[in-house]
Amino acid sequence: MSQDILFSPFHIGSLTLPNRMVMAPLTRNRAGDGNTPHALNVEYYAQRATAGLMISEATQISPQGVGYPGTPGIHSPEQMAGWERVTAAVHKKGGRIFLQLWHVGRVSHPSLQPDGGKPVAPSALAPQGETFTADGMAPFETPRTLDAEEMPFIAAQYAQGAENAMAAGFDGVEIHAANGYLIDQFLRDGTNQRTDLYGGSPENRRRFLKEVVEAVLEVVDAGKVGVRLSPENTFNDICDSEPQATFDAVAEMLNSYHLAYLHVVEGDFVSGEKTLDYPRIKDLFGGPYMANAGYTKELAEKSLQAGTADLISFGSLYIANPDLVVRFAENAPLTEPDEATYYGGGAKGYTDYPFLPR
Ligand code: PHB
Repeated sequence: MSQDILFSPFHIGSLTLPNRMVMAPLTRNRAGDGNTPHALNVEYYAQRATAGLMISEATQISPQGVGYPGTPGIHSPEQMAGWERVTAAVHKKGGRIFLQLWHVGRVSHPSLQPDGGKPVAPSALAPQGETFTADGMAPFETPRTLDAEEMPFIAAQYAQGAENAMAAGFDGVEIHAANGYLIDQFLRDGTNQRTDLYGGSPENRRRFLKEVVEAVLEVVDAGKVGVRLSPENTFNDICDSEPQATFDAVAEMLNSYHLAYLHVVEGDFVSGEKTLDYPRIKDLFGGPYMANAGYTKELAEKSLQAGTADLISFGSLYIANPDLVVRFAENAPLTEPDEATYYGGGAKGYTDYPFLPR
């Protein structure tokens, strides 16, 4: 196949993506008051609308789901109205955008929680280290163990978030089951020490994700729903004793729903190691596979040609290169992102990265 594969169309559900390049979800902590998207966010997403598909930054489904200051939500009418301006601007530029549904679980702090309550998790195990709060860094606190009876309620909040996202004009939703947040905390045995139906075997640990997927599919067509996993990421102090077995079981479970795609963070953000058999996870899932983390144009083309991925998502490259599609197509130089402006602040390091002159 020619090297133009990166710029060839791909179908997910009823959508035609004009190329295989996806803008990965990127937390930027620049939402306005009430964790509401505002004009600056509209401009940022509109600038990047030439991506085959964009996935929004992680967006909390409930006040309990929040983990950091300035991350947007999709649970209030104001947040929905803010996102509606984003999706309208993206569509006007000819783009497509999914919203990423997020609950952080234990990766939060009482100062961010409704009524100063404890963050919630599958088991009462605090992550090591400190987290961002409105008053600076603070140690993580031990979370409250969720009751089994609470799980359908949280699954319903994912479904409500999905319904809200579709009402706000998104083309679909991505269930965030990666990077050490709530669903991932259930999937992995390092954070899930439950002895009920939600813990123990891989089948039990994947149960909450299964319930979330089924709740979301009640309100959104399967062809508009993706799931994101990060099988060997240790980010947010998470681990699993048998990650291949755990995530083989997850991919196998997801196979039957005919989802839009499976989005996989390959390797560990923290150590840079990549040891699992991802083609196996892709095959077990059986549907469109979106690969992420560390892909360059060359690696992306190689993977697409080898058939080890159907779509490639780019994170840090999209922070600094709003016109990444054109830059890749023309082999133009790339701008380096400034890590100091990743999280929080205003236009600097957000909407002021240059476009190629046209
Ligand atoms: C982050 O805040 O760095 C972050 C948020 C969500 C992710 C990964 C990283 O999935």
